[in-house]
Amino acid sequence: MDGMQGFIFQNYSEAGGRMYFTKENAMLIDAGISLVYEMYENKQLNDQQFYYCLCSVLEAADKVSNTTGFYSAYLKTFSKPALNKICFKGFELKDPVAENEVFQGDANDLLKEVRGDILYLDPPYTNMQYSNVYHLLNTIAKNEQPTIAGITGRPEGRNVSSWSHKKKVESEFRTLVESANFEYLIMSYSNESIMSSELIADVMSSCGRYEMKEMNHKKFNLGTNITDNKFITEHLHVLQKAG
Ligand SMILES: C[S@@+](CC[C@H](N)C(=O)[O-])C[C@H]1O[C@@H](n2cnc3c(N)ncnc32)[C@H](O)[C@@H]1O
Repeated sequence: MDGMQGFIFQNYSEAGGRMYFTKENAMLIDAGISLVYEMYENKQLNDQQFYYCLCSVLEAADKVSNTTGFYSAYLKTFSKPALNKICFKGFELKDPVAENEVFQGDANDLLKEVRGDILYLDPPYTNMQYSNVYHLLNTIAKNEQPTIAGITGRPEGRNVSSWSHKKKVESEFRTLVESANFEYLIMSYSNESIMSSELIADVMSSCGRYEMKEMNHKKFNLGTNITDNKFITEHLHVLQKAG
């Protein structure tokens, strides 16, 4: 496949003054993503094939990104993986274990229409905004050309989550627990997170029978993708809502 001097090349390679990708890889990402979208628009790919190909482009791009795994910044010199030529690969699809539906949206909005037996929650733990640290993968996945700013090229107007906001998270969490139409709510959260265990226990116990389990887990070192020998405590907060 020939490369293409598109949005990623112009903004997120050395050509645009930002070293997220080498110029060659950025051109192949531009070419790959526009081919996938073009084929989908021309009905040459069905939904499943489209998402499969999208996934292949994203995985390949992530493997050669000149970052620590987070796209809030790029490294000052190209790392060894970033210098490899991008390779779009197929991958095996596991047999589905059940029929499932996927929703995308704000959790508290979705809970107005979704109900069930067990609600498992894995919300952001910290004040890190996912839309900032993965902005470039979102741009590639959506084939967007957003207005971007600054040395890191972060797009304007992306979602910010109240779950990563110290002052807003409590009310967001309280609304979720009170409104969820589920018998069981199970939430994983660590002891180094923005809501305290006492607060979580207080909110959940006010809505039914509450229990908490904990285990030690190796700490993930933000920004380096390596773990040192420090441990954190992972909590599983379990609520059986009162009828
Ligand atoms: C700790 S990660 C969960 C990762 C997930 N368990 C996985 O394996 O991919 C938290 C996720 O919550 C999402 N998120 C943040 N605020 C949200 C909200 N208000 N509604 C729904 N999802 C939200 C983030 O974008 C992020 O993908």
